[in-house]
Amino acid sequence: MQRVNPIIYIIFLVLSCSNKQTVENSLSERDAAIEIKVQQLLSKMTLQEKASQMVNIGLPSILTGDYWSERDSTVFAPKKFRKFITKYAVGSIHNTPGYLIGSKEWYRIVKEIQDSAIHKTRLGIPLLYGIDNIHGANYVKESVLFPQQIALAATWNRDLSKINGEITAYESRAASLPWNFNPNIDIAINPLWGRIAESFGEDPYLVSEMGAAYIQGSQGESLEDPKTSAICLKHYIGYGAGRNGKDRANALIPENSLRQYYLPPFEQAIKEGAASVMISSNAVNGIPCHINKYYITDILKGEFGFKGVVISDFSDVHFLTEAHEITEDKREATKLAVNAGLDVLMNPYEIDVVDYIVEMVETNEITMERVDDAVTRVLRLKFQLNLFEKPYNNPEDFPELGGERHIQQNYNTASEAITLLKNNENSLPLKKGKKILVTGYAANSMNVLNGAWSRTFLGQDTKYNDPTKLTILNAIENEVGKENVDYVEGTDYTEDINTVKAVSKAKNADYIVVCIGEIPATEKPSDINELQVPEVQQELIKKLAVYNKPIILVMVQGRPRIIRDIEPLSDAIVMAYVPGQEGGRAISDVLFGHINPSGKLPYTYPLYSGNALTYYHKKADIRDITWAYDGFYSQYEFGHGLSYTTFKYSKVTLDKEILNGNETLKVSVTIKNTGKREGKEVAQLYVKDLWASVAPDSKRLIRFEKISLKPNESKTITFEINSADLKFIGIDNTWVVEEGAFEIQVGGNPKELIKKQFEYKI
Ligand code: BGC
Repeated sequence: MQRVNPIIYIIFLVLSCSNKQTVENSLSERDAAIEIKVQQLLSKMTLQEKASQMVNIGLPSILTGDYWSERDSTVFAPKKFRKFITKYAVGSIHNTPGYLIGSKEWYRIVKEIQDSAIHKTRLGIPLLYGIDNIHGANYVKESVLFPQQIALAATWNRDLSKINGEITAYESRAASLPWNFNPNIDIAINPLWGRIAESFGEDPYLVSEMGAAYIQGSQGESLEDPKTSAICLKHYIGYGAGRNGKDRANALIPENSLRQYYLPPFEQAIKEGAASVMISSNAVNGIPCHINKYYITDILKGEFGFKGVVISDFSDVHFLTEAHEITEDKREATKLAVNAGLDVLMNPYEIDVVDYIVEMVETNEITMERVDDAVTRVLRLKFQLNLFEKPYNNPEDFPELGGERHIQQNYNTASEAITLLKNNENSLPLKKGKKILVTGYAANSMNVLNGAWSRTFLGQDTKYNDPTKLTILNAIENEVGKENVDYVEGTDYTEDINTVKAVSKAKNADYIVVCIGEIPATEKPSDINELQVPEVQQELIKKLAVYNKPIILVMVQGRPRIIRDIEPLSDAIVMAYVPGQEGGRAISDVLFGHINPSGKLPYTYPLYSGNALTYYHKKADIRDITWAYDGFYSQYEFGHGLSYTTFKYSKVTLDKEILNGNETLKVSVTIKNTGKREGKEVAQLYVKDLWASVAPDSKRLIRFEKISLKPNESKTITFEINSADLKFIGIDNTWVVEEGAFEIQVGGNPKELIKKQFEYKI
């Protein structure tokens, strides 16, 4: 047996008792050794050195020019560089120089910063470099640009989420970027919210599962592996629930909803080993998340036993003063945030908070224990990432960056995401040898396919587009030959360009492919006041419809924009979300049948803006003017998505009628491919509590599995569930399971779920 160092063993015991997570997983010898190194280093640090570890600055702060100046080269400003990097020895850094750079340039930048931190500061602590590599390593020039996360969610394929995480980590690490501000595990309950595109949608279970898989891919077996990246969960918490549907808006979340819907993805992600958490810029019930000690210290670090780093969002200490009006004094705001449990303050432009922290420890407004806790977490992550030994990576060691395997996985993700919402009389796949009119705002734009965080923050700049990638138009032309395609732009996002011309061309077309879309944007610039598809884009379809030619509507959008009026005019509707760089190819391959679509909606597609409910609403929410309970007017339900083949669900059996205590209930279902071609199907399992002391949800997703079936092939899936799947947050705001009748609902089409009842006895 290997001998265990007695000090390591003592630390192991202490940590095992203090952390729920480690009780289950047991602390490895490496982790225990890291704890020793952290404590040794911490004991040598001055208060100011500690406070510096609690600050994250933006890269432009150490470059020539103002923070937001336009740049085309990265030149360090010697005075600023010395101040932040060597004098203060700031703990971490984020952001890009403001233009797109490749792995070699990243290497040069990170190396210069790390070499100075290691060789020119008293303790030689490397910095932690964080970045928003949101859909692939979007800030590394050679990287692949994956579909946005909402599309990844629509695949309902955990393996793809894991692969997206793994490739993003690899391509980030190729640029010496070891810490990624992703994934987003916000529960997006409001379709108006622009960042729904960056989320896994509305359902806590789907979000938890896809989020956990992404973390496994990104963080791998150990962060010591230089091909992995530490993730940063965001945004804790309630960011996707702004009451007015806007970015960073106040959310009203009662304790029971917080625990039932918003916290579970974070809890699961933390069990998965998530390295860090970013606090949300919004307020919940009027309390900015950044000062909410109950959420951060009591729940996240206490109940969930989170041992990683808690970082603020961009400039959010400042926004406690300016946006939230909690105090006009930044020093006071710093105190509130640090005392709430923030370990790192993302304070992009300045180092002022270091001085505040030092001063407030001296005046006992912040305790040294709190500072030590924060710094311990930061140092722990740096050791876990092995940054002391390997502070940057040689790009040459990453030959797969932007390579064939990654491109193929990108294409696979886009293909599996695309969701066929409507297909009247098998209008799709399109037949060859026909004349096609391609039109619409999204038809010939790479930027609309890629969305925000694509080489630039908003993703609107065309100069970084890869000319080898295909727009929807390019891909259709490749498929059927340019001579068979007429292209007319039709509209811009909100302006008519030449709809008259588009209509005149429609006369001679056999098919009309109209590609509508959203302007690439995120955060505040993505706020909208109207969920309807912009009028001019709807008008185009209305005008084209006069010829009675088959209209194929392709939607390139993160949000489910209202299509009530144009839906009946469309023979087939393809939801492409924001499918990334291979999206044009994937859309065309779906249209022409090379890909059999298998995506399912990760959110409810509302029919009316005023009836935008999540599928897990209460019965009283859907009471109609007639007092009947049929007021849930979705255009398409959560989990909806068609295929070019058909699937039949049968033989739904429960292995018992009464589930007792902690027993397992086995739910089996047989799925048969009853159509003519191979296809993938997502079998969904929901549970409905028939009567409960807190009004039960209409239903709740508790399991899903994606399978592939050849024509005539059948498979039987057995889902195992237990009392944990029946629990809900009760009247006293804790999880409870109540005895009584429950209903299992199984299927792949939310309108045709097969229902079976059973009883639960405690
Ligand atoms: C966004 C975060 C992002 C951070 C750092 C903020 O404005 O809300 O999602 O990680 O900036 O760039």
